[in-house]
Amino acid sequence: MKRVLVATGGGDCPGLNAVIRAIVKRSAREKDWEIIGSINSFDGLLKEPTEIVVLDEKAVSGLHFRGGTILGTTNKGGPFEWPVKNLDGSWGSVDRSEEMMRKLQYMGVDAVISIGGDGSQRISQAFHEKGLKIIGVPKTIDNDLPFTDFTFGYQTAVQIATEAVDKLVTTAASHNRILILEVMGRDAGWIALSASIAGGAEVCLIPEIPYDIEKVASRLETRFSRGKGFANIVISEGAMPKGGVQAGEKSEEVGYHNVRLRGAAARLEMELKKAGVVADIRETVLGHLQRGGIPVANDRILATQFGVKAFEMVLEERFGEMVAYRHPNIISIPLIDAIQKNKFVTENSNLVKTARGIGISLGD
Ligand code: F6P
Repeated sequence: MKRVLVATGGGDCPGLNAVIRAIVKRSAREKDWEIIGSINSFDGLLKEPTEIVVLDEKAVSGLHFRGGTILGTTNKGGPFEWPVKNLDGSWGSVDRSEEMMRKLQYMGVDAVISIGGDGSQRISQAFHEKGLKIIGVPKTIDNDLPFTDFTFGYQTAVQIATEAVDKLVTTAASHNRILILEVMGRDAGWIALSASIAGGAEVCLIPEIPYDIEKVASRLETRFSRGKGFANIVISEGAMPKGGVQAGEKSEEVGYHNVRLRGAAARLEMELKKAGVVADIRETVLGHLQRGGIPVANDRILATQFGVKAFEMVLEERFGEMVAYRHPNIISIPLIDAIQKNKFVTENSNLVKTARGIGISLGD
């Protein structure tokens, strides 16, 4: 019997369960493979007693459309930086990666499939360098991982954001207001751009193109003066004014290293008022609604393709590699390449050209 351990790490996103299901279903087509899952990323392995579950076809039945992850996840700490409380009450960290390697060996695990975003894949690469037979599966609603056209979860987030714009358009029109929608994406503007195009926003502000508030204000005034008595703005949580910084703050949560981005829409409202915009302004922060619930069909399909490919990479012993989607193929690339940099919107991105082409202001 050969054994593969699966873990989901980082922020959740729609489609994770579909990947787990596909790995299990594909493995069931081979002789003598067992799939097990570690609860809450690799934390389950490091817990005493360990929190490990057997994933057979019964356990994954019907998971193709279920949001979240049945394995649980975490975006804090990890085996290389396990949080520990110092004697003085402050928090430090210890490296438990060797211990995890020993546990995997003891449990007879032949290979690991790690489903996660950039942080998780950095951990996968570090384990690969230690000799662990590991394969990465990329996930994130932000769609900011390089070498893959899309990550699953992104299309669902875009759909949810677009539906929000659709709803905000009708209430903006009824009240002659400016409605601002703040969407996720961290440092990448893919969700905002896509939802702006699909939802027909007038202004889209993204982290990669710092905005000039005077230009945004004058664009809105022109629109109102032409008789269009309302406007919709989509702003990425990571967007910033020219010469400014992202809105947010360092988190106090133990082991959480990301900056918590928040407040971009509220700041924009204040800036617009200061710039002389007289129309009423309201803001909506979409937040984690973008990460929850049922994945759209495209994400279920992509997640299933990734799961099947990941297990086949185990069979082919393509360790130290990550699944990727390069239209029209599902391929694999070295993890070391995948973690070098993120994929951001550029002036040459087709979505930017399309947005500009239909007159959406990007605030510059
Ligand atoms: O990376 C995915 C993401 O949803 C980002 O878009 C967002 O900035 C972040 O995670 C939120 O993280 P958390 O769930 O830890 O608040």
